[in-house]
Amino acid sequence: MKKIGILTSGGDAPGMNAVINGVVTAAKAMDIEVVGFMNGFDGLINNETMALPIAFVKQINALGGTVLGTARSEAFMDPQVREKTIQRLKDDGFSGLVVIGGDGSYKGAQAIIKLGFPVVALPGTIDNDIPLTDSTIGFRTALNNVMDSVDRIVTSAASHGHNFAIEVMGRRAGDIALWSGIALDADVIITQKEEFNSEYVIAALEASKASGKKYRLVIIAEGAMTAEEFKTTIESESTFKIHPLLLGHIQRGGMASLDDRIVGKIYGEKAVDYLANGGTGCCMGIREQEIVSQDIDDVLSASKEMILPFSYAANSYRYHI
Ligand code: F6P
Repeated sequence: MKKIGILTSGGDAPGMNAVINGVVTAAKAMDIEVVGFMNGFDGLINNETMALPIAFVKQINALGGTVLGTARSEAFMDPQVREKTIQRLKDDGFSGLVVIGGDGSYKGAQAIIKLGFPVVALPGTIDNDIPLTDSTIGFRTALNNVMDSVDRIVTSAASHGHNFAIEVMGRRAGDIALWSGIALDADVIITQKEEFNSEYVIAALEASKASGKKYRLVIIAEGAMTAEEFKTTIESESTFKIHPLLLGHIQRGGMASLDDRIVGKIYGEKAVDYLANGGTGCCMGIREQEIVSQDIDDVLSASKEMILPFSYAANSYRYHI
C-alpha cells in the first residue's frame, strides 16, 4: 500500500485533528503517503487536497475543530458522483480512505465500501449518537465545554437567584444533556419531548427553591424542546421566571480533552494498521475500553442506546424527565 486519503465530515469534533496526527504518524512509519481531502466528501469529489507533513500534524493533536475543514455533502448522495469519484481515487493510486464523522459520514463510507474500495470510518461527533460504540470522538470535550460554560453561568445565577434553562447540542441524541446535566447536578434534565410533564418540572423547581439552593438549572437536549419553549410553558403555568439560553457552538470549540487527544490518535493508528493489513472496509468503535473493528452495516442498522454515565441507575436520578 503506497497511498491513502483522509477526510473529516459532518459537524467538527475535537479530537479529529488527533486522528489526523495518528493516521499520518502511523503511515509515515510504514512509508505510506497520506493525502488530506478538504471539506468532507465535497473535497473528495472535487479533488481538493491538502498536504499533511509530519511536522504539521505533530502540532495539531490538541487542537479542536479539523484542519481539513468539514461539510455535510449533498453531492455525494448521488451514486454516479460516488462511482466517478472512487474510480478517480483508484486511477490516482489510492488504496484506502479514512473517514472521520458522524452517522451521515458513515453512510458515505458505507456506500464507498459497497463499491469495493477500502474505507475505515471513525466515530467523530460530539453528539455520541453512533450505535455500538461506548463514546465518540469529541463527546468528552463537548461535555467539558458545557460544564465549563455552565459553571460560569451558575455563579452569576446564584448571585441573582436566576432560573436558567440551557439548551445543549446533540441533534437527536440526548447524551450531552444527560451526562452534563448529571455532572452539573441540574434540577431538571429534559432529553425527550414525549416525557415532558410541566407539573413534574414545576414541582422539581419548587423543591429546589425550598431546599435553599440559590439558583435553578434546567438542561435541555436539542430536539427535545427549545429553551424558549420551556420558558413559555413554565412561565404560563407558574410564577418562575426563566432565563432561556442556547449554548451553541462554544460546546464544539477549543482544545480537545485528554481522552479525545489520546483516543483520537490511537484510532488513527489503528485505521492505518487495518488498511495496511488488507482490510476491505469497516468502522471502528470502543467496546469495554478497547478499540474494535466493526461491520459498518451492523452499526448503521443498530439502534443507539443512551448510555448512562457509570451505570447511573435511572431510578436514582430523580429529575430526569
Ligand atoms: O452533529 C454535531 C452538531 O453540533 C449537532 O449537535 C448540531 O445539531 C449540529 O451539529 C449543528 O450544526 P451546524 O454547526 O451546522 O449548525
